[in-house]
Amino acid sequence: MTDLAGKHFVLGLSGGIACYKAAELCRALIKQGATVQVVMTQAAGQFITPVTMQALSNRPVFGSHDVSGFDAREANGMPHINLSREADAIIVAPCSADFMAKLLHGRADDLLSLMCLARPIGQVPLLLAPAMNREMWAHPATQRNMAQLTADGATILGVGSGFQACGETGDGRMLEPPELLEDIVAFFQPKVLAGRRVLVTAGPTWESIDPVRGITNLSSGKMGFAIARAAREAGAEVTLVAGPVHLPTPRGVRRIDVQSARDMLAATLPCAEQSDVFVATAAVADWRPASTAGEKIKKDGSGHMPQLQFTENPDILATVAQSPRGASGALFCVGFAAESHDLEAHARAKRVRKGVPLLVGNIGPATFGADDNALLLVDAQGTRELARATKLELARKLIAEISTRTGAGA
Ligand code: CTP
Repeated sequence: MTDLAGKHFVLGLSGGIACYKAAELCRALIKQGATVQVVMTQAAGQFITPVTMQALSNRPVFGSHDVSGFDAREANGMPHINLSREADAIIVAPCSADFMAKLLHGRADDLLSLMCLARPIGQVPLLLAPAMNREMWAHPATQRNMAQLTADGATILGVGSGFQACGETGDGRMLEPPELLEDIVAFFQPKVLAGRRVLVTAGPTWESIDPVRGITNLSSGKMGFAIARAAREAGAEVTLVAGPVHLPTPRGVRRIDVQSARDMLAATLPCAEQSDVFVATAAVADWRPASTAGEKIKKDGSGHMPQLQFTENPDILATVAQSPRGASGALFCVGFAAESHDLEAHARAKRVRKGVPLLVGNIGPATFGADDNALLLVDAQGTRELARATKLELARKLIAEISTRTGAGA
């Protein structure tokens, strides 16, 4: 199942160098199952041709040569009415400073602005992806326009920061197509954790032996990152405490990178005090070397590895679950169990041992590094399976489950 299956968008392009990214966005939307009707302003036509957008969207482009907003290709000549009524959203990407100003005033002298004004405001959301020079972006007029457009019901998808086509560096670049796609997908997810604060631990930990060696495990962090993303999509404020993994941070998620189990505990405890939900997906090393050598341990010629002493790491989930906030239920704690066999028996025992209301079991070796998984939910009443699916789909189901169990979605 693709994330935007059955959705239909009007993709509006106003004039700006970021039009080249709109081509990629169009492809990305279609790849996720959406259909796309492109509408361009005349200025956009200076940066990218309607032919390119027609080929990518598989539909004739509107607007680029019909300055008036009327078009003989539509039986009633009114594409601003017809095309806006069939859309699940109008996405303007890039949205220039000039186009924002135009929208703000309700001007309608080209098809795209006319369509934005004529859209049924309660049914067809307007998503704007601004793109402009950093001075234009920072200008009080643009900031004022953005605030007013938000108050008028538009959703501003934010801007990126970095090197700009004009040679300057700063805020105002259009978000990259994958970022826009993530935000658009998130926009349509039910907001079942709106206003809740969710804390997630993810990935392996790294326990140093000496400055160049350490002990870790095969956890990729993908399940935890998917849960952080799903919680954010559901409207939560999300903090992700991540061990060493090479994964991009989900959009809108606050990430704290840590190395060892003790670092993870230190980062987690203060956040747990501020959270409503804690999901521990991290594969925390159970043991760490009792001491870390200050210099690289060299071979001594004996042919034997030097003896290492180990000491047990703190149990982060149990510590948080048994803290006053966890024990009282003010913080809803969810544990994970990565097992290699006897999943149900181990998961049931682990739930009781950790003192959590919900524990999610999975077969570790079958899922480490993979994009899919199958989960077993274990609570005091019994068990329920979540059939094999992508980690993001499972994460969304788990978030819906947490919402129901905490009464957040009520
Ligand atoms: N966990 C934790 N801190 C630890 C160990 C585990 O927070 N030091 C959390 C994990 O994030 C997971 C749950 O506890 O949510 C279970 O982790 P798992 O490694 O499966 O269990 P262990 O307690 O290590 O038990 P065992 O090794 O005996 O299976």
